[in-house]
Amino acid sequence: MPDWLTLYYNEPIEIVGGKGCRVVDASGKSYLDFFAGILTNMIGYDVPEVREAVERQLATGVVHTSTVYLLRGQIELAEKIARLSGIEDAKVFFTNSGTEANEAALLLATYARRSDQVLAMRQSYHGRSFGTAGVTGNRSWRNNSLSPLNVHFLHGTDRHLPQFRGMSDAEYIAACVEDLRHVLATAAGGDVAALIAEPVQGVGGFTMAPDGLFAAYKEVLDAEGILFVSDEVQTGWGRTGSAFFGIRNHGVTPDMMTFAKGLGNGFAVGGVVARGDLMDAPHATGLSTFGGNPVSMAAANATLDYVLDHDLQANAARTGALIIDGLREAAPRLPIVGDVRGKGLMFAVELIDPATGAPSPELAAAFMEESRKAGLLVGKGGLHGNVLRMAPPLTLTTEEAAEGLGIVVAALETVNAQVAP
Ligand SMILES: Cc1ncc(COP(=O)(O)O)c(C=O)c1O
Repeated sequence: MPDWLTLYYNEPIEIVGGKGCRVVDASGKSYLDFFAGILTNMIGYDVPEVREAVERQLATGVVHTSTVYLLRGQIELAEKIARLSGIEDAKVFFTNSGTEANEAALLLATYARRSDQVLAMRQSYHGRSFGTAGVTGNRSWRNNSLSPLNVHFLHGTDRHLPQFRGMSDAEYIAACVEDLRHVLATAAGGDVAALIAEPVQGVGGFTMAPDGLFAAYKEVLDAEGILFVSDEVQTGWGRTGSAFFGIRNHGVTPDMMTFAKGLGNGFAVGGVVARGDLMDAPHATGLSTFGGNPVSMAAANATLDYVLDHDLQANAARTGALIIDGLREAAPRLPIVGDVRGKGLMFAVELIDPATGAPSPELAAAFMEESRKAGLLVGKGGLHGNVLRMAPPLTLTTEEAAEGLGIVVAALETVNAQVAP
């Protein structure tokens, strides 16, 4: 297998069992899971409603038919997602992954606008294919500049840069909007198809634009007919607590949203929900062989119903606030903590060298080992690999939130004591 498929931890963990928000490794050690298979085990492990829905489908003997036959599960799920999206006359196309979902959205946008120009955000991540790597603005996830698209990268998620430091949200938003206008007036050649953006950047280390930035961008985009695609692969389904789709934190309804990861609670499902006129426009026939297969549809319908029936968005807001507030309270006495940020059950701690203020991937690695020892799984990310990313299942209880927070703070204290005694 490729060298670039990296494993966490000095001694990799093999997860062999799971229940609720906990997993067990091959040695029998149990962990509270604050990363959930990269936000994908969205409602936790071994959820009876999901397991039974999948088992019912397996019992029919049919795990695949292809989309040339009617797939009831697809229609049911598409109708739910279209309704939840708030997008006008929405239609849904199912894929197997976030990468494919973004490819589909880019195809729709470039086709509708007859343009190969796309705007994307710096530090973004949208997938590993030719097109989605092209709109990825994070060097550690890009091997070269080859791209089927002409891409201009915008500010908006980089207010740590010296030129923006000290600005209020309003001032930063104004500066970014001016930059967007300038890019359109100077760098773009003719019509631009779309802006694609993550409301909270996942791989980028949960960096995010201040609320309101995308609404301000959208005014400029609308004036030129430029479409807006929100990549909700990490931020969808109530994860941010304050909104069901991350982009709603900005008061924006986009022209399209893409999704994947959590929707199937581990079963492979992705897709794009788009304005009907955009979705229907391409003249060529299209399909995805495995996209929206009966098994993943059974899992996804059960997962989405569970999220809605249990109002997990409210739970994300409640338990997320408990953890984020706790982290913010601890940060001032921990010089290794450069920043605490997040929304709902999507939060991060950025680690820095206390002497220089430089990003410290070494301290992040030390934290990973400490938290592992204490029985907590977290993720890592950011441009420099120095950001601890955490996104537990949306079913996290208040007790589990307090337990996880305690482990994170204790591990930060241990690492802090090693470098800043
Ligand atoms: C925001 C975002 N978009 C797209 C993708 C790609 O999804 P996949 O790995 O399912 O292709 C990811 C994966 O991490 C992501 O975080």
